[in-house]
Amino acid sequence: MSAPFTPEALTDGLGTHVIGKRVICLERTSSTNDRAWAEAAHRARDGTVVFAEEQTRGRGRLGRTWHSPRGAGVWMSVVLRPEMPIDRYPILTSVGAVATAAAIAETIPVSPRVRWPNDVVIGGRKVAGVLAEVRDLTARRPPAVLGIGVNVNLSRDELPKELRPFATSLAIEAGGLVNRLRFARALLLQLDHFYRQVIEGDVEGFNERWQAFLDLVGERVRVRTGGRWHVGRLVDIDPVAGIFLRSDAGPPHRYLAEHVEMLRPFDAHA
Ligand code: BTN
Repeated sequence: MSAPFTPEALTDGLGTHVIGKRVICLERTSSTNDRAWAEAAHRARDGTVVFAEEQTRGRGRLGRTWHSPRGAGVWMSVVLRPEMPIDRYPILTSVGAVATAAAIAETIPVSPRVRWPNDVVIGGRKVAGVLAEVRDLTARRPPAVLGIGVNVNLSRDELPKELRPFATSLAIEAGGLVNRLRFARALLLQLDHFYRQVIEGDVEGFNERWQAFLDLVGERVRVRTGGRWHVGRLVDIDPVAGIFLRSDAGPPHRYLAEHVEMLRPFDAHA
């Protein structure tokens, strides 16, 4: 197992501008998102990051559990205070996903893709997930918490059995253990880059990078929303507006980001 993270090891000489100017490293916590919310309540600055070696109640999207064994992954959450209208906040999920994909691509020789809205996949298998949360929708500029979980050095046996056909880790893909600290530093740098790009208003530049990582565009997919599956060709995705599906039955349809539970290739494993 790799050495536990420390704020110094994660940030010394890193040169980020916003993300990781303050870093908290925990041995174990219920969920780094919860701890980040506690920090936000105490006025933590934009870009404060919480890492944990282990989460006992890691959360995924839609109330799912996120398996977070000790020392085997990067389990982290960032307090964000973006200067942007709240209806643009969904882009933060894409910021997290693209930063993760870019950090993976510079760490091991694979081509990670972003499976909208919040999965990062390698060869179609999920390696990382993003969970962005906003609580006070009535505030003028509410904080958000951006949680990112990356399976770094989990072996196939350490992945939950029911997820094995659909999940992977960097170590599985690389065929050997990956330097977790180096990866975490790369992720902080990429997050800093894409977050600043978006809050400084270069949304077009961001979208260009993001589109290049997108999975499944042009392919036949199925989308689950409100408990029902819809099949069609994936025409376009906008990080805020949602996905545009040319459906097999009926006219083309746009599915809002917050309504899409799952986007999958339309194949035997889907
Ligand atoms: C998903 O794919 O459903 C999102 C998974 C997000 C997991 C990360 S791990 C760090 C942070 N803390 C949590 O409890 N969840 C996120």
